[in-house]
Amino acid sequence: MQEALNSLHQEATTELETVTSSDALREWELKYLGKQGAVTKLMRGVGGLPSEERAAFGKRANEVKTALAESYSARETVIKAQELARDLSQGQIDITLAGRPLSVGGLHPSTQTLRRYREIWAEMGFQVFRSREVEDDDTNFTLLNMPPHHPARDMQDTFYTTTPNVILRTHTSPGQIRSMRALGADGTQPIRVILPGMCYRFEQITTRSEIQFHQVEGVAVGRGIRMTDLKGTIAEFARRMYGDNAQVRFRASYFPFTEPSIEVDVECFLCEGSGCRVCKYAGWLEIAGAGMMHPVVLRNGGYDPSVWSGFAFGMGPERVTMLMHDIQDIRYFWGNDLRFLEQF
Ligand code: PHE
Repeated sequence: MQEALNSLHQEATTELETVTSSDALREWELKYLGKQGAVTKLMRGVGGLPSEERAAFGKRANEVKTALAESYSARETVIKAQELARDLSQGQIDITLAGRPLSVGGLHPSTQTLRRYREIWAEMGFQVFRSREVEDDDTNFTLLNMPPHHPARDMQDTFYTTTPNVILRTHTSPGQIRSMRALGADGTQPIRVILPGMCYRFEQITTRSEIQFHQVEGVAVGRGIRMTDLKGTIAEFARRMYGDNAQVRFRASYFPFTEPSIEVDVECFLCEGSGCRVCKYAGWLEIAGAGMMHPVVLRNGGYDPSVWSGFAFGMGPERVTMLMHDIQDIRYFWGNDLRFLEQF
């Protein structure tokens, strides 16, 4: 038995010298020192020995086991060091190599147009007023001179919610009421704001109409504001947006919250009025609905309409953006298709 122990010691030690990796080392450990290992198995045989030999055998077996465990950890230290050295040399990176290009995000075409609008209106003295997208029916309609069952409500198909009176705004005009109430100091201060933001209508989605779209509302309230101020302001905006030669025209129209009401066209910036596919050979493009604020609306905003007057307008940036970039289908705007978005 002692013989077997000694030759096992010899065999294990020799084999350990050929072990060069952590994996092989783990196998070696299992083979000799593990629960099913050769040394353990030999030690179990101690019961079969004559009693006078047992003590000596047990002592020797423990010596072998300890010696092998020490050799094991010495070998482990060497292998770990080798492997670390190898990892360090193989894992070296060439910091002089060119990096991978990062893809840089761009601005959505609507955002670009909105920013330009905002810039121009800021230059002209209009500050941004943020108004809510989730509105109440009163502010979206009733306070804008469209009481329940008013036929003009049908012009704007509405997203209702399960909460009574809570809707998604169908236009930015409810912001007229909110901005007057927030900034007018009970009808004592003039205001001049734009209200950009998303609007929602429960419409059939087609190439030309979406259930969501931006509007930029403008509101100016003061003493002695007249229709000529509205016309001059819009014409100035058009010149700054579409160039010094931009011509505008005003057509009589109808909105319940303005009186008189107009629609504004700008001469087509592609064909300069001679007619092309974009303007449908009309030479003109519609850019806004507008008008003098209705006395009922001014009163709902806290102003005395016999003293104060004002104008309001609403513009839709998506349509203009489509024309500028020759975008054929409005559904691209909210389709989240990078192939579209990356073009801007
Ligand atoms: N809110 C109107 C629309 O959505 C546009 C508008 C705004 C008209 C302000 C007049 C004054 O069509």
